[in-house]
Amino acid sequence: GVKIVTIGGGSSYTPELVEGFIKRYDSLPVRELWLVDIPEGEEKLNIVGNLAKRMVQKAGVPIDIHLTLDRREALKDADFVTTQFRVGLLAARAKDERIPLKYNVIGQETNGPGGLFKGLRTIPVILDIVKDMEELCPNAWLINFTNPAGMVTEAVLRHSNWKRIIGLCNVPISIQMGVAKLLEVESSRVHVDFAGLNHMVFGLNVYLDGKNITQAFLEEMTKHKSDTMKNIAAIDWEPDFIKALGVIPCGYHRYYYKQAEMLQNELQEAAEQGTRAEVVQQLEKELFELYKDENLAIKPPQLEKRGGAYYSDAACSLIDSMYNDRRDIQPVNTINNGAIASIPDESAVEISSIITRDGPKPIAIGDLPVAVRGLVQQIKSFERVSAEAAVTGNYHTALLAMTINPLLPSDKVAKQILDEMLEAHKEHLPQF
Ligand code: NAD
Ligand code: G6P
Ligand code: MN
Ligand code: MN
Repeated sequence: GVKIVTIGGGSSYTPELVEGFIKRYDSLPVRELWLVDIPEGEEKLNIVGNLAKRMVQKAGVPIDIHLTLDRREALKDADFVTTQFRVGLLAARAKDERIPLKYNVIGQETNGPGGLFKGLRTIPVILDIVKDMEELCPNAWLINFTNPAGMVTEAVLRHSNWKRIIGLCNVPISIQMGVAKLLEVESSRVHVDFAGLNHMVFGLNVYLDGKNITQAFLEEMTKHKSDTMKNIAAIDWEPDFIKALGVIPCGYHRYYYKQAEMLQNELQEAAEQGTRAEVVQQLEKELFELYKDENLAIKPPQLEKRGGAYYSDAACSLIDSMYNDRRDIQPVNTINNGAIASIPDESAVEISSIITRDGPKPIAIGDLPVAVRGLVQQIKSFERVSAEAAVTGNYHTALLAMTINPLLPSDKVAKQILDEMLEAHKEHLPQF
């Protein structure tokens, strides 16, 4: 049987993961699922862990669920390790969103200053995890959801000896589902070629029953109201821009191509109902109240209010394909190896890949369209410099990362935001 370890097991998303393993039990026999957390998360771990136990019992599958605060005990002989932790919890995310807004800069979990700081807090922890894995489960695969997933994957590839990492996000799968919904067809009839970076990915081609319908789809897309992840304001795109772009942008591209409207929207929401982290704090409370109910033994539909809805379907499909060497195509974050010509070979990219027992094999696309290539390269530079700052704790490197981010208006504002955020987060930034 398969042994899975989930770090950050107290996450409200855990029931999705458990549901995914239950559904696939026949092809992916998970015998042990270890949910790992830290003392601050112990209460959440117990609540969600007990729900997980009721779920497998009700489904009648023999998955043993272990709850622990001892990561090293859990990692011993694991086959797959998934990571979904949040250093500093939602309180830290709220600072990532609030502080930039004071300077009229986008405040967001994975973009701009928020993305930099989530990376600075997270990267030292992930590098510790891979050290433990080298020792305790050297043949396991690390499947990372922890944001910023692209930067985290880049950091592991460049700053550790661990190569068995795959970064995962629900954005591509959500785009694919959105395409099928808009075309009013079964999602199995739709295929999208993805390439780019995490939260900076494009759908390059759309196929229906194997026929390339990209331009017709983009025309159709402009006739419909926007639909995107629950955490991103679905402000409509300029129809002529989409037709000119010629590829499908992801929801997060709004922060770059609609910066002014997104900033206005964030400022208004922050004043009226709170930033996304503050909204999610409330949502999370409601979810955990539901999870406590001893009669609940399924994933409650309310979980779909979280932006990461369906992310674990992606995770379970990926693990299933690796375990069974299915060689199907899935979009993942993996080492580029020349698949996108204008990105370094050793960097992480988010790209449609053939999923094998030995990991994902990215499908080469040649290069990205010239109109988007520069932004993608700039974000890759931002991720690399940020990862270096996270590893070294060097102030000037962090300032460089902040300043070259395209959402920052000037070096001066970048420094002000950096200084305020370093102070606000110092408890979780021992390297500085
Ligand atoms: P959360 O705030 O519920 O945190 C999950 C758990 O991590 C908590 O129980 C917390 O105690 C624990 N934790 C914190 N530090 C830890 C550490 N050092 N070791 C072990 N556990 C630790 O978070 P969430 O909202 O469920 O999100 C979890 C993570 O997954 C975040 O980083 C989020 O950005 C990411 N996420 C990514 C995707 C994606 O598309 N890749 C989708 C959803 C969520
Ligand atoms: C999206 C992203 C995730 C992100 C999440 C936020 O789907 O792909 O990377 O973590 O939404 O959702 P939340 O409900 O926490 O705002
Ligand atoms: Mn994501
Ligand atoms: Mn229509």
